[in-house]
Amino acid sequence: MVDIHSHILPGLDDGAQTLEESVAMLRIAAESGTTDIVATPHANVEYTFDPEIVSSRIREVQEAVGSLIRIHAGCDFHMKFDLIEDLFQNPTRYTINGKGYLMVEFSDLIILPTTDVVFDRMNSAGIVPVVTHPERNPLLQQRLDQLERWTRNGVLLQITAQSLLGRFGPTAKRVSDQLLDRNLVHFVASDAHDTEDRTPRLDLACQYVSKHWGESRADRLFRRNPAAVLKGEPLPAPDEVEMTTRRKRKWYQFWA
Ligand SMILES: [Fe+2]
Repeated sequence: MVDIHSHILPGLDDGAQTLEESVAMLRIAAESGTTDIVATPHANVEYTFDPEIVSSRIREVQEAVGSLIRIHAGCDFHMKFDLIEDLFQNPTRYTINGKGYLMVEFSDLIILPTTDVVFDRMNSAGIVPVVTHPERNPLLQQRLDQLERWTRNGVLLQITAQSLLGRFGPTAKRVSDQLLDRNLVHFVASDAHDTEDRTPRLDLACQYVSKHWGESRADRLFRRNPAAVLKGEPLPAPDEVEMTTRRKRKWYQFWA
């Protein structure tokens, strides 16, 4: 599997704090079936993002884990005015592997009305925004129609593996299920921060998606789509098996 959202680099944000913790997180990821992971340190009011430091930490951690797993460069980009201006000057500083995809996180308190304009500008600049964990954002949780409109305009959505398993509470779980039912999810990623609570395991969430929405959907969200992101290629189309698969419910859930 390919994980496009994680905080595995030591001492850059609220994720791993030491090299030992980074290595332990990567071991968990590899042992649960992740072959590639994108390190996405925060760029926000609290944490300054420096792509050169990110590259040197990736080299250091990659050397420590050897061929266990491949680490890629990215950023957890917060929609903040000065960052947005810098993005358009230097897009490859923030995008995954310096290619076309950008992880975008919204504030829990406000989503500016100019967001659509920023998305349009990204589109014209060849940047594809991937909105991170809308199911955990108290504003976006209630705006599924807006999310659907965004996806029609080329915005992609990433949900968190542990949301599907209930770690972020019943609302985040329900919204994740609804987004999957409406086929609005493009990626499931870990957003891992540590080895105990918010770990980089994707396998359990992958089994959950496979059980309810079919193997082909799980393969697209955990493997094919994120693999395309690493290379900066367009996302593959869903295959025919997936197109004809509906959520598998127990008989008593049809009336729920
Ligand atoms: Fe994150």
